[in-house]
Amino acid sequence: MIADFDVSSDWHVAAPYGFLRGLRHEQPVFHSPHLGAYVLTRHEDVRAAYGDAKRFSSAGSLTISRSLTQATRDRLGEHGSFLSSFVANVDPPDHTRLRRSVSRAFTPRAVAAMEERFRRLNEDVLDRVEPDGRADFVPGLGHIPSTKLTARFIGVPESDEEFVKSHVKDWFMLFLSPQPADRQLELADSFLEYLAYVDRLVAARAAAPQDDFTSLMTSLIGSELTHREVVELISTILLGGNDTVPNQLGNSVYRLLRENIWPVPADLTQNAVEECMRIDGASLGSFRYAITDIDLHGVTIPAGALCLLSTDSAAHDETVFDDPETFRIDRPNADAHMTLGYGIHFCVGAALARLQLRTALDVLGERLPGLRLAPGQPIAYRKSIVGRGLPALLVEWD
Ligand code: HEM
Repeated sequence: MIADFDVSSDWHVAAPYGFLRGLRHEQPVFHSPHLGAYVLTRHEDVRAAYGDAKRFSSAGSLTISRSLTQATRDRLGEHGSFLSSFVANVDPPDHTRLRRSVSRAFTPRAVAAMEERFRRLNEDVLDRVEPDGRADFVPGLGHIPSTKLTARFIGVPESDEEFVKSHVKDWFMLFLSPQPADRQLELADSFLEYLAYVDRLVAARAAAPQDDFTSLMTSLIGSELTHREVVELISTILLGGNDTVPNQLGNSVYRLLRENIWPVPADLTQNAVEECMRIDGASLGSFRYAITDIDLHGVTIPAGALCLLSTDSAAHDETVFDDPETFRIDRPNADAHMTLGYGIHFCVGAALARLQLRTALDVLGERLPGLRLAPGQPIAYRKSIVGRGLPALLVEWD
């Protein structure tokens, strides 16, 4: 008998691959009572659904897993539907307009210009921790450069970085994972404080523009964007920088050290990044709503139903990736994963994410060629439906 998704259990977050394989073979359209969603697991189905925004809607898809109490909703007031106009959470034509605006900040030139800064941020962290000979990779090495790069990109002053970091974490927890009632209220307060902060930042840049993302987006208020859209964009991109890239880096370093591939040979770094994203993706999939009844593999997904497009399963689909549970640094089609999405919502920060992962692996390999896992540590992934990441990863070096 096929089990169900169970994000609260360790097997599910650590190694769901036998389960997902069973779904691909036996129930490629699986109705999960636990998720309250129809789950697509085959690579070709997941790809087709991402590519079919006319039948698979993103409207409201990011806010599905929240289970806010009435008291929390009252506390949040008009902000209870936060993210309702975030670019990943809307359909065309709003999506087309928002995407056009946000893309202006991610031109190839703008992204390439961040490489040197990011390299330096990694060097700075290493200058500090290298003499220690050991660290918890996640908070000690992995998070700091990405968080700082994103803060500079957005225009958050260095003195506010810690504030932003802790508040971003809080709102992520509030909206994207179920929390007990009293914890929800604490998180809601933290979130409201954070919104007020972003509002102040937008007002400051409207008065005195600088060379940063907030100034660029603020200059579009009134012509292309609303004030709320700008606040949601800034908040969410800060989250992107604080969470997704460091999670992917942690997963990647854990994988590479386990496979004894360290330091990563320079000519293979790019493919190593893709293979790490394939086998240990920091994003596990995206939610969509069926716009009409959708018939697939003998199942009718009813109009209005929630669907999970499991990129995690697609990345382990043996019809696309030979021997999918084996890490192959030179896998020719490693980049056929959809960990960065696919179609009109394809990650707008993809080039920046790849640049950071490549650069971090390069610098870490150069500076810590003897990096290894600390022996005997328990490894436990965070419990989440949409993201895989390690809260801690103890490493040592000579
Ligand atoms: C390894 C790191 C990252 C992963 C795994 C990741 C993953 C994803 C995925 C799966 C989507 C598609 C969501 C959907 O279709 O519903 C997406 C969209 C998006 N990502 Fe990323 N992302 C990463 C890094 C970043 C970074 C660094 C930024 C910005 C600095 C960013 C900004 C965005 C934005 C704004 C969207 C929405 C695009 C749209 O809806 O058109 N991401 N990302």
